[in-house]
Amino acid sequence: MTETKHPTDKLAAVTGGASGIGLATVERLHQNGHEVLIIDRDESAFAVAEKLSSPSLPVYAKIADLSSVDEIARCVESIDEEFGGVDILVNNAGIHPKQADGGPFAVQDITLEQWDLVMNVNMTATFLMSQWAMKEMMQRGWGRIINVASRAGRMYMPISGSHYAASKAAVISFTRYLAGDCGPYGVTANTVAPGRIKTPLSDVSGLGSSQNLHEEFAKSVPLRRVGTPDELAAAISFLASEDSSFVTGSVIDVNGGIFG
Ligand SMILES: NC(=O)c1ccc[n+]([C@@H]2O[C@H](COP(=O)([O-])OP(=O)(O)OC[C@H]3O[C@@H](n4cnc5c(N)ncnc54)[C@H](O)[C@@H]3O)[C@@H](O)[C@H]2O)c1
Repeated sequence: MTETKHPTDKLAAVTGGASGIGLATVERLHQNGHEVLIIDRDESAFAVAEKLSSPSLPVYAKIADLSSVDEIARCVESIDEEFGGVDILVNNAGIHPKQADGGPFAVQDITLEQWDLVMNVNMTATFLMSQWAMKEMMQRGWGRIINVASRAGRMYMPISGSHYAASKAAVISFTRYLAGDCGPYGVTANTVAPGRIKTPLSDVSGLGSSQNLHEEFAKSVPLRRVGTPDELAAAISFLASEDSSFVTGSVIDVNGGIFG
């Protein structure tokens, strides 16, 4: 057993924690009593951390572009030095490139460069961050890894690009195997698969009013609305908690009931 150098009980790291689902997750985990570390490429992460921090329960921020293997290596090295690893890791950072008019890229229009970028941020970063975090979690005998996939990784969605969908399907499959490898050491790994959630990522204003598009989409959702970032944070919070102690390798669909 290695000793964590940081006094916190359970430190949670959230990638992409400066916006949308990640930000709601940071707020929730902080409300649950965790010290939280935001990892984001956007420098607004510092202001978010400052705003949420309290003297007894800090929120930290590190800037890293997770599309870069070198930046990931630099980032996790500095986390190891400062905190001695993390207890909870939420791999949430993700991108979904769209056409200028807000529509998805068809397979025939995706360049190798675009393909690689989506895979690097959505999948390779999830793999590298999990591989790093699980080692210390396994030594400590407790850990939670929660990966954010998408409904697009579960089924065909005309509004999604195939690179995005493939990366999210890979996240789901990867997480099952991750759960298999870290389970014997007391570490769980699960996926959440959001449906349409109102965040900057799903804002396709290029196609007209984003609100109207959300309303149009909502007609096909059994609960007749799109989701909120906090509804994702609630599922992630459960998976990060002791309450989910016998849940691993699972996918929680948070999509208002839309499965077709
Ligand atoms: N919003 C939806 O409808 C929806 C649906 C399904 C899945 N998701 C998934 O949920 C996750 C969060 O999405 P969101 O809607 O909150 O998006 P968002 O755009 O609001 O937030 C994404 C965050 O990730 C960060 N990020 C992006 N690329 C990064 C990189 N290379 N390095 C570091 N940080 C990076 C951004 O700076 C941002 O803070 C993503 O993985 C997304 O694919 C979202």
